Amino acid sequence: MGCLMLRQLLCCAALRRGLAQGDAYARRMQPRYHVAPERNWLNDPNGLAQVDGVYHVFFQHNERAPTWGNIVWGHATSTDLARWTREPPILRDPPPYEAGGAWSGSLARVGGRLAALYTCVDGARANRQCAAFPEDATLTRWVRAVENPVVAAPPPGVPGSLFRDPTEAFAWRGRTYAGVGASLDGRGAVLLYEAASATNWTYAGPLWRAPPPPPGCRGWTDGPRCASMMVECPDLFALGGDRYALKASLGGRLRRDVVLVGTMSGDPPAFAPGGAAPRAAAAASGPRPTPRRTPNSGRASTAAAPTRRRVSRTTAAGA
Ligand SMILES: *[C@@H]1O[C@H](CO)[C@@H](O)[C@H](O)[C@H]1NC(C)=O
Repeated sequence: MGCLMLRQLLCCAALRRGLAQGDAYARRMQPRYHVAPERNWLNDPNGLAQVDGVYHVFFQHNERAPTWGNIVWGHATSTDLARWTREPPILRDPPPYEAGGAWSGSLARVGGRLAALYTCVDGARANRQCAAFPEDATLTRWVRAVENPVVAAPPPGVPGSLFRDPTEAFAWRGRTYAGVGASLDGRGAVLLYEAASATNWTYAGPLWRAPPPPPGCRGWTDGPRCASMMVECPDLFALGGDRYALKASLGGRLRRDVVLVGTMSGDPPAFAPGGAAPRAAAAASGPRPTPRRTPNSGRASTAAAPTRRRVSRTTAAGA
């Protein structure tokens, strides 16, 4: 621990000296394989995709400061997932409904059209869902949907500030759905929306609800044991048949990603954790990015998270 702190001090002293010496030194301090902006803040990865043979990673980014704020989507591309080219951030120049930033979301093909589904947050921190469309296959220029925000308010029981991070769209029994992380009646939940198109979403009930919080929890930031009162950055992975892995970030003071393996059933579908974990689920639990399918051949996603987040896998088998 002391060793780690000493290393961090040395690192930061060296970094400060380096920044004073200019960009060449700062470039040497950049991670070699991990996607990072040239400077300033990043958090959640968003919208991993492969389009025309090029991998795209977007991420929450503040262009102006090394602290959270002014959130846009940073963008990097790669053909080998090792060497990354920084592209200009997207979803800049926010309209009033996005004055609080373009928060996390996903890329998906909905109704045959590639779209970014994301949480647009206004100046008063109201979480609403928005869509934007790329102008071409480079994914460098985007236009926001004129219908934004496409989900203007959460359903009853969900506070306006606890409703975010749409999953990639997925097909179930001939319909297309996306999930949104939320706190529903004080319990973390993934809310299901039927997406007839990227701009036409209809609430279809909860896809999954976290267990009720223990007594004494007033909010999801009260402490690690209260973290399941809110779900962020949910994601769903098809494992074959009706078996799915549901990934959810339990934030607050816990900062932990959980992957539940279970079964999807019903119409509209509900997810129930349980049963034996298929071997394929292990791929979703590692700290390394694990591209799965993509908008061309399916979809891509990742369990990667900021370095201080621990990643764990939970199955409800026998629990
Ligand atoms: C949205 O989709 C539903 C079907 O899910 C359809 O009934 C409705 O007409 C659509 N609304 C618009 C504005 O296209």
